[in-house]
Amino acid sequence: MCGIVGCVLDKKAAPTIIESIKKLEYRGYDSVGIATVTDKINLKKGSGKIKDVNNEIHLTDIDGNTGIAHVRWATHGIPTKENAHPHCDCDEKISVVHNGIIENYQELKEQLLEEGHIFKSDTDTEVIPHLIEKYMKEGQEFLVAVQSTIKRLKGSYALAIISKDEPGKIIGARNESPLIVGLADHGNFLASDVPAILKETNKVIYLDNEEIIVLTQDNVDIMDLELNKKEKNIDIITWSPEMAEKGGYDHFMLKEIHEEPQVIKDTLSESNKINEIVSNFKNFNRICFVACGTSYHASLIGEYLIETELAIPTEVILASEFEFFKKTLDDHTLVIFITQSGETADTLKALKIAKEKSETLAIVNVVGSSITREADHVIFTRAGPEIGVAATKTYLSQLICIYLLVAHMAENNELLEKLGKLSELSEELLTREEQIKEISKKYKYARDFFYIGRGFNYPTALEGALKLKEITYIHGEGYAAGELKHGPLALIEDNIPVVGLLPPGPSYAKTFSNLQEIISRGADMIILGSKDDKQIDMIEDKLLFNPVIDEILAPLLYIIDLQLLAYYISILKGIDPDKPKNLAKSVTVQ
Ligand code: G6P
Repeated sequence: MCGIVGCVLDKKAAPTIIESIKKLEYRGYDSVGIATVTDKINLKKGSGKIKDVNNEIHLTDIDGNTGIAHVRWATHGIPTKENAHPHCDCDEKISVVHNGIIENYQELKEQLLEEGHIFKSDTDTEVIPHLIEKYMKEGQEFLVAVQSTIKRLKGSYALAIISKDEPGKIIGARNESPLIVGLADHGNFLASDVPAILKETNKVIYLDNEEIIVLTQDNVDIMDLELNKKEKNIDIITWSPEMAEKGGYDHFMLKEIHEEPQVIKDTLSESNKINEIVSNFKNFNRICFVACGTSYHASLIGEYLIETELAIPTEVILASEFEFFKKTLDDHTLVIFITQSGETADTLKALKIAKEKSETLAIVNVVGSSITREADHVIFTRAGPEIGVAATKTYLSQLICIYLLVAHMAENNELLEKLGKLSELSEELLTREEQIKEISKKYKYARDFFYIGRGFNYPTALEGALKLKEITYIHGEGYAAGELKHGPLALIEDNIPVVGLLPPGPSYAKTFSNLQEIISRGADMIILGSKDDKQIDMIEDKLLFNPVIDEILAPLLYIIDLQLLAYYISILKGIDPDKPKNLAKSVTVQ
């Protein structure tokens, strides 16, 4: 959802800035731009992915030790060169990159237009440089003009701003959109997220809302909106730069799927910390999960687990719908927020609402993210940086945390023991990648796909379908196996691909019958089942054999096959699975 970078270095900044902004491409890839300061503002921008724009206009080819850059995920204004950031004032003395949405931009723009300012874009952002220009022309110095501007803005922003008059300086500001400071010996950085600066430094300051930052090559001042200086902690990042590189794989997504066995191990090592959190819980009589996208699907599995293992009434609410459900919250409700980025605006907003009445727990991947600073308890998923836009390893790590949480709450040692064996089993799964690659070849031209599962494996069907939609642009729908006969069977016809999840366990017989109903209507079945299943052996359609694992644990393994299936179909269709169209990894607008 847009990424920004800024730095003041002891050398030419553009090459470093472009390397950094590439690491934020998961946040948006509609357009890209850079501005540096010498004796003037030097600006280059264009629409398209960084690689393509760079090939065309050589973004690194500008002088200046101070610069800012932006990758865009369009909100206001279509992705054109004009709407790409940075945006400037009338005289091109001020240049701004922005992540977020200025909600009152129309009103501000009208005033500025009346005062004679000339706008070049349709973006909400452009009011910012013009406001700064206005205040500077009224006699305010750069920092005070930024302060006056910020006080006029409603909405969310992470900003990096440069001025022709003060070449060695970047002013930043944050409200409801993520922004960090990176401290290095060769200069200082501002960025939307840690991967952007990992190659340069591991020293980070996480900024809070309503903070203004003045960054020079050898100094960083962090202030409140009244420009009073604040003391901030410096955090040391443990992620290595290699973790944000492809490491020989064609795509981050494939690398991240292959990291899943290790991620399972790393996340299981959080077991004691999770137990400690659980031991401080009150007696809850209701649990709510709140999340979006893939994290929502992980939450659904949490609902099945809690209902069956703990018999506590549980529901899962989409973060964007949460405010309609707030009236029933009370202090006997535990609200669990699942989020990879820890920055999803809808989830953050829901957390702020829930905190007022209930105890909150966040399960988050990104250390230092906004949600980790708001929740009563935090569990980290230990998946490391995930760069591919479609969530893979982080989904698995969320599931491991949820299973550990429930196992500890239920004091179910048998479940804990079974979880301990999962990493090895997942390695076994990855050995049949070639088989999945082969199967995928048939589906390059598929128009629709269905995914069917029951109980714990119904959310896996939803997540499998989401992965397919996200990176292949094929319509995919997940259904509870028993629900098919209440409508969607009308759509099943000859050769329509249907993925059936059929692990052994109490739901097996019913799901098997549902699959028969589909097969007899001519569908092209892909069954994920267990090695020793003699019944599916008799079905002539193709089979993917999972290690023998009961239906309660199957969500932790079967999804790996579905991630790989979507990946290979995406490759066949010539799509870049790391940057699917219209999506961003960190959605910081509501
Ligand atoms: C975006 C991403 C999804 C992700 C969702 C929630 O839509 O493209 O992959 O599942 O946001 O993100 P979160 O960071 O809150 O898990």
